[in-house]
Amino acid sequence: MNMKVNLAGVTLNNPVMTASGTFGSGEEYSELVDLNRLGAVVTKGVANIPWAGNPTPRIAETYGGMINAIGLQNPGMDVFIKRDIPFLKKYDTKIIVNVCGKTTEDYIEVVERLSDEPVDMLEINISCPNVKEGGIAFGQDPKAVEAITREIKKYAKQPVIMKLSPNVTDITVMAKAAEAGGADVLSMINTLTGMKIDVNRRTFAVANKTGGLSGPAIKPIAVRMVYQAACAVKIPIIGMGGIMTAEDALEFILAGATAVSVGTANFVNPYATTEIIAGIEDYMVKYQIEDLSELIGAVR
Ligand SMILES: Cc1cc2nc3c(=O)[nH]c(=O)nc-3n(C[C@H](O)[C@H](O)[C@H](O)COP(=O)(O)O)c2cc1C
Repeated sequence: MNMKVNLAGVTLNNPVMTASGTFGSGEEYSELVDLNRLGAVVTKGVANIPWAGNPTPRIAETYGGMINAIGLQNPGMDVFIKRDIPFLKKYDTKIIVNVCGKTTEDYIEVVERLSDEPVDMLEINISCPNVKEGGIAFGQDPKAVEAITREIKKYAKQPVIMKLSPNVTDITVMAKAAEAGGADVLSMINTLTGMKIDVNRRTFAVANKTGGLSGPAIKPIAVRMVYQAACAVKIPIIGMGGIMTAEDALEFILAGATAVSVGTANFVNPYATTEIIAGIEDYMVKYQIEDLSELIGAVR
């Protein structure tokens, strides 16, 4: 039975990875989860300089999910490279660094700096709904998506994953724009912009007023978008959004995702990633699937 998958020439031992921002850089989970089991660890967003993030409160629970407005708090690339990459290198897993920025130059600075580091892939977050400049400012305009993808590809030594925003009318337009700019892989979806009001405090549940909705509540939207994008482009897709179980992950794979990321589930069940891998194995045994690739995009 073969669970290995190929993303732009990078072979993952299995299709399950962590979703950016929900697993730190692995160290906080490593006492509970054997990182060697994961297809890849995707790090929290890293910027060229440290970012303080948004004022608190920054998270709130919702039905079937949560709203967050962390605002991409991170220690900046210098600390990240010194502290987190050597930690992750100890494990037999792929390292995917999520990159954030406010301007094209910011992104390029990080991408250039990472070019000589032992990083397997870069995931470019152009879809964070919680920072005013950058992030989503790029991700909602197809011309901007294509332009920033093209710029980043000029400097990147590793394959580039463009992380798309679901906060658009037609995801296929964005997927095609990233592909036209030279993206090697797409990942989707980032969070959907949401709002929660605390009726007792009579104010917004998160200080940023709006935040990104994640968790099972968004899964049917995410599966639909992965399906649409998979029909529209030739490059591989990493699917995510509300994956809690192996069945959830398999929905994304059948819809066309080559790999999947597990995010909010880690907060509820820190063992979610490895349980999902085991569940996919059981499914393959049950249905006599020799190679996971038989399942990718099998529903059309
Ligand atoms: C607390 C939190 C922090 C996040 N931080 C990032 C981030 O730094 N960069 C990024 O691209 N996505 C970030 N995301 C989005 C997730 O990677 C993922 O796209 C989204 O949550 C949908 O997956 P899920 O429903 O499994 O959580 C964050 C999500 C959460 C809940």
